[in-house]
Amino acid sequence: MTELEQQLLAVQDQALAEIQTINDEQSFEAVRAKYIGRKGSLPALMSKLGTVPPEEKPAVGKTLNAVKNAIQKAFDDRADQLKQKKEEKNALDLSLPGRKPEIGHKHPVFLVMDAAVAIFRRMGFIVADGPDIDTVWDNFDALNAPMDHPSRSPEDQFYFNLDKCDYLDKNTILLRSQTSDVQIRTMMSQKPPIRIICPGRCYRRDTPDATHGMSFHQIEGLYVDEHVSLADLKGVLASFARDMFGDKTKIRFRPHHFPFTEPSVEADASCMVCGGAGCRVCKGSGWIEIGGAGIVNPAVFQNVGYDPEAVSGFAFGLGIERLAMIRYGINDLRLLYDNDVRFLQQF
Ligand code: PHE
Repeated sequence: MTELEQQLLAVQDQALAEIQTINDEQSFEAVRAKYIGRKGSLPALMSKLGTVPPEEKPAVGKTLNAVKNAIQKAFDDRADQLKQKKEEKNALDLSLPGRKPEIGHKHPVFLVMDAAVAIFRRMGFIVADGPDIDTVWDNFDALNAPMDHPSRSPEDQFYFNLDKCDYLDKNTILLRSQTSDVQIRTMMSQKPPIRIICPGRCYRRDTPDATHGMSFHQIEGLYVDEHVSLADLKGVLASFARDMFGDKTKIRFRPHHFPFTEPSVEADASCMVCGGAGCRVCKGSGWIEIGGAGIVNPAVFQNVGYDPEAVSGFAFGLGIERLAMIRYGINDLRLLYDNDVRFLQQF
């Protein structure tokens, strides 16, 4: 064997071994340049063929071709292997569990709101709506609030533009303090009979504590027809309470005062935790207040253009946060608005 043939075979051995170590495209190109590139070791040896004596040329030429083919084949094979490896890595593995995007769920306040809406809808109430920013007329005047009613105070309400407006002016606007303004909006645009509920947000300038927030939710109810009585109101609220808190829940009324209802009551539900025996949740009384209610004041009917002699009605306003706290046993209202996911996840 000639020296050139020996060199060729040595290059072949070295190349084949090195090709096996290639693991990415970059080193593939580097190794290829090193052996078969224009300045690679194989072309360098090939150029020496000219110096081989004619009688040895056929044999050397043959070896040269064999070496060239072997190296080329090794490169091709390695390229295939790398490609396959890459495909395996990207391959879709159907046995893997799917990646579920974490989607949240409804806030406990809205879970309770939805439940309450569903219950009243089953009783035939339809949902009415109104804006969070309303006029003093809708929020106070039409609801028969006297001019000196303490709830009108700018210290208790979020009025807009008080530097330019008078808070007693009926056109001044404010963040509504109650959903009762929707009673007015509904009666101004519809004729009786009326049977609506209005779930919505209200605002008051309260300093937040365990049972007060500066914004909270109510569900308002209004039923106007002929011969509507306090008994109808009690029946509706009792039915609601049984559906919401359990079959054994009872309702009681305590006398109260609201400008827009006469008589007015505060409605209590029997404590769903102790069943009325008295416990920490109901502070020993056996009852939990759920909202205000009453028979619509004839003055309100007059304000919206209804005939107080022809129709009567009842209205109620329930605090949603309150219902949520009772339903879930939450003892501090602020927890609902801290937005701590660890808390909210529980519901
Ligand atoms: N609007 C009253 C409040 O916010 C609740 C209420 C509504 C009372 C309807 C009577 C009738 O306290």
